[in-house]
Amino acid sequence: VRRVEGDADGRLDMEGLRRALDGARLFVINAASNVLGTRLDVEALAALARDAGVISLVDSAQAAGHLPFDTAASGVDLVAFTGHKGMLGPHGIGGLWVREGIGVDPLLRGGTGGNSLLPGMPDAYPDHLEAGTQNAPAMAGLLAGIEFVLDQSVERIATHARALKARLRAGLADVPGIRLRSPAAPDGAPIVTFTADTVDPNTLAARLDRQHGVLVRPGLHCAPDAHRLLGTEATGAVRMSLGWASTETDVDRAVGAIRAILADETVAASIP
Ligand SMILES: Cc1ncc(COP(=O)(O)O)c(C=O)c1O
Repeated sequence: VRRVEGDADGRLDMEGLRRALDGARLFVINAASNVLGTRLDVEALAALARDAGVISLVDSAQAAGHLPFDTAASGVDLVAFTGHKGMLGPHGIGGLWVREGIGVDPLLRGGTGGNSLLPGMPDAYPDHLEAGTQNAPAMAGLLAGIEFVLDQSVERIATHARALKARLRAGLADVPGIRLRSPAAPDGAPIVTFTADTVDPNTLAARLDRQHGVLVRPGLHCAPDAHRLLGTEATGAVRMSLGWASTETDVDRAVGAIRAILADETVAASIP
């Protein structure tokens, strides 16, 4: 595996990328970072991969349902998504979009799809990848989530969250002792990552939850390298996420809660 470096604004080292693509078989990128909230130029990167003769795979876990993306027009070969984030589906289900002409081997094998005469799994998609009995309840839940998202429209959800993200950043920037860590990235994922000078992320998150009913995610967010870029790999950070259901009142309440916690001397200096 060759890793391509980035910077704290979510920009990739393009020279390093060109070197990494040379002779590679698969180019994997995140559509959006779950720590920086930045969005990659998936179309341009897919074109680079194509020119280098490398198959491209976009992990859209942090973007699907949050940010508009035209899969077929993007030039990407494979797009993976998870069901339980912006698609509003249940846990344990996700999807893989496969461009016509790209072959994918099954990870698991079992059953013969719709043709009992076959000795193994069919060659036709999606049956080719669907081993065993399908998780029909999760599929029904995911379908309901997708229908809701399409009904709301991803553009509308993105515009709504974008305005709230700007409001949240402005509110947090105004709280003494808060350090915004993620870049503004208005077109990116609807998240804001920050630290507090006098309260560690876990304490802040626990207080927000127990005392104010505000849920945030502290820590390294399964992405230590992204935290290294932000300089928060030792302490982690707090990430706030916005979505279709978030309101201006939610944002203002959350900012007020953080202000109150930081002003409470009993939690001051909890940074290890
Ligand atoms: C970029 C990215 N890919 C994949 C996942 C995991 O997806 P799943 O929960 O479907 O395994 C996550 C988050 O959990 C993620 O942020």
